[in-house]
Order: sequence, then structure tokens, then C-alpha cells
Amino acid sequence: MKKYNFDEIIGRKGSDCFKWDALPSMYGRDDLTPMWVADMDFRSPDFVFDAIRHRCNHEVLGYTMPSEGYWNAVTSWLHKHYEINTTKESLHFIPGIVAGIAYTLLCFTQQGDKVLVTTPVYPPFLNLPNESGRELVCSPLRIIDGRFAVDFDDFERKARGCKLFIMSNPHNPAGTIWGRETLARIADICERNGILVVSDEIHADLTLPPHKHQSFSTVSPSAADNSLTFMAPSKTFNIAGLGSSICYVANEAIRKRFFGWLDALGVAGGNIFAFTAAEAAFANGEEWLAQMLDYLNGNVALLKDFLAAKMPKVKPVLPEASYLAWLDFSAYGIDHKVLADRFINEAKVVMNDGTTFGGEAFSCCFRLNLGCPHAMLKEALENIASVINS
Ligand SMILES: Cc1ncc(COP(=O)(O)O)c(C=O)c1O
Repeated sequence: MKKYNFDEIIGRKGSDCFKWDALPSMYGRDDLTPMWVADMDFRSPDFVFDAIRHRCNHEVLGYTMPSEGYWNAVTSWLHKHYEINTTKESLHFIPGIVAGIAYTLLCFTQQGDKVLVTTPVYPPFLNLPNESGRELVCSPLRIIDGRFAVDFDDFERKARGCKLFIMSNPHNPAGTIWGRETLARIADICERNGILVVSDEIHADLTLPPHKHQSFSTVSPSAADNSLTFMAPSKTFNIAGLGSSICYVANEAIRKRFFGWLDALGVAGGNIFAFTAAEAAFANGEEWLAQMLDYLNGNVALLKDFLAAKMPKVKPVLPEASYLAWLDFSAYGIDHKVLADRFINEAKVVMNDGTTFGGEAFSCCFRLNLGCPHAMLKEALENIASVINS
């Protein structure tokens, strides 16, 4: 029985929401449909609001700490969904995953150290090494049968001399699931080269059935021993504005060093609503999540059918996890700048420009966010198609 209504169009303008309210400052107009920033236009779950409202009955908002209930909800979720068997001692709150990756860079690498990523990739993976004086090393992914794949010859060559590999697992853009075999090869190369692995698994909970997520930490004992894993309820339950993420580190020495650093930074205290929301989400979220993933699968099917019918020259990489699709428009032969301008000013749809995921190699590619009601997606696709086909 369907309990939640993901068809509802919820006006978000004027709620200080980045996706909608930053449009005038970013694009000079506010009559755009935002299919960019990676959150969803769905109502966040009722059980999260109930928990926040309940907490507000106590009217002191002083310093807080994670409760046993929070830790139980987190460890049960990790065990049930990913076979990560851990206790709270191997976990640490972090306010956000981008911040967590920044703390990792500062803790485990020095200025000038090489940091490996696979492109195209979520832009902060490029910006963090660049802005912190590390040397960014990019290994381009290949597209095989409509899926991103690691080019292991290139990856192995580029890995030499690197200190850290920042991995998006599943991969943003396009929610590619890295299977056990790929992850095991990555683990092997990184271990042989003395490279610490950061596995950003923020999109893991959004794995679309029948796909299955594999946490890097569960590939082998040595992968677990040589990695930090970041997860969060933020994408899963559409509560990214609360800043509530988790770091899992199996290796005791890495853990001591990293968790000590996090405590020194003063981020361990978290915030009341982040803990409250995360606990409520993990403890009560199974049914909401299952229905939401079913709805997202409907959007992926809608996109696939629409492309085949109305924009057959677009080469897509469709999500196996998350609500992000990677669309390559280059077969239409339209100059990248012209295309980007027409999407904004004629189609009035905002997608993320592919160049921000790794440079000019990705011009004419755009990342489309499908985390919205079917009707909104359909209208945006019609508008994109009318620009492409005119
Ligand atoms: C791969 C990936 N990591 C991290 C983030 C952001 O995480 P946070 O808001 O916790 O910093 C995103 C958001 O889109 C993402 O796609």
C-alpha cells in the first residue's frame, strides 16, 4: 500500500533553499526549473518532523551529544543494509561529507601530495585538493555499455606516488554502482601503492532495486583496514540541510589519528537536530525509503523512454543509485556554450554543466537531477527537447 505521496508539488521558493532560491544570483532569473543541486523536491519524512517537534518540547538548546538511541539506530542500519558490523567506537559524527573529506586531506596529506580521483566526479573532489595545495591527479572513467567503468591501465599508472584516493561509491555523477570486482581491484592497487582510500558512500542508501550497493569496507579485511567510509542520512531522507553525517573507520591507528583530529577541530559535538533527525530516520525509515526508491525508479524509466522517443541522440548514463543522470548531448553538434545558454534561457531548465565535473573533456554533458515529482521531470524534459529539436 502506498502511504507517501511523491507526486505532490511542494513550493520551495522562499524557504532559503539553495536549489530554488539561489537561481537569481546564479543565473540572473528566477523563472527556471532547477534540476541541479542534489537534493529532492519531496517532503522530508513525517517521522523526522515528529522527532524534531518532540525535541522542541524541551526548551533548552544547549550543547548536545549523540545518544545511545542514535548510535543504535546508526549501527543497526549499517549492519542491516551493508553488513558493516561495527560499534560506536569505530564511528564518528561529522557535520557533512565534504567537510569530512577536507578533514581527511588535512589529517593524512601534506601540501604538494598527490590526490587521485576518477573523472567526471562530484566537483568538491576536484576543488578540495586544488584549494588545499595538494596535486590533483585525475584518472578519466570510460563509458562501456552505458555505464561508467574504471580504466585500470590508466588508474594503475596514475596511482603511483599518490597518497589518497577519493572515491564516490556509488559514483556521482550518474549513481554508478561499483561492484565487488572493481572495488577489489581498486583496493589492491591502492594497498600496493600505499594509498589511503576515502569511500564517500553518501548515495548508497539510494541504490535502486534490483541493484545492490557494496561498501568498500566490506570488500576484504585489507580494504577495511586501509579506508575511511563516509555515509549519511542526508540524501536518503532529504534532510541535507541538517548536516548529519557519519564516518566509519575500522583500522584502530587511522581511527585514533582521525577521530582525535575531529575532536580537536570541535566538530564532534554535532547539533541537536542533526542527531534527532538521523536517529528518527534510521530507526523508522525503511518503508518511506522503499516507496521513494520505487518512485525514483519510475523517474528513471520515464527518462529512458523520453530520451528514446524524443532525444534519441543523447547518450545517457542512467542511475543505478541516486537520482542523478549524466546526459551527453554532443551528437547534436551544438557548441557547448550555446547549448548551456539555451538550456537556461530557452528551456529554462538548470542542469549541472559537465565541465564542472572534470574540465573540457565533459563539455556538452550535463547532470540532470531526477529527484522530483514525475510531472515536473516530464515538463523539464519537454522543454529540453524543444530546445534540442528546434
Ligand atoms: C558524492 C557526494 N558527496 C558529498 C556530497 C555532499 O555531502 P555533504 O552535504 O554531507 O557535505 C554530495 C552532494 O551532492 C555528493 O554527491
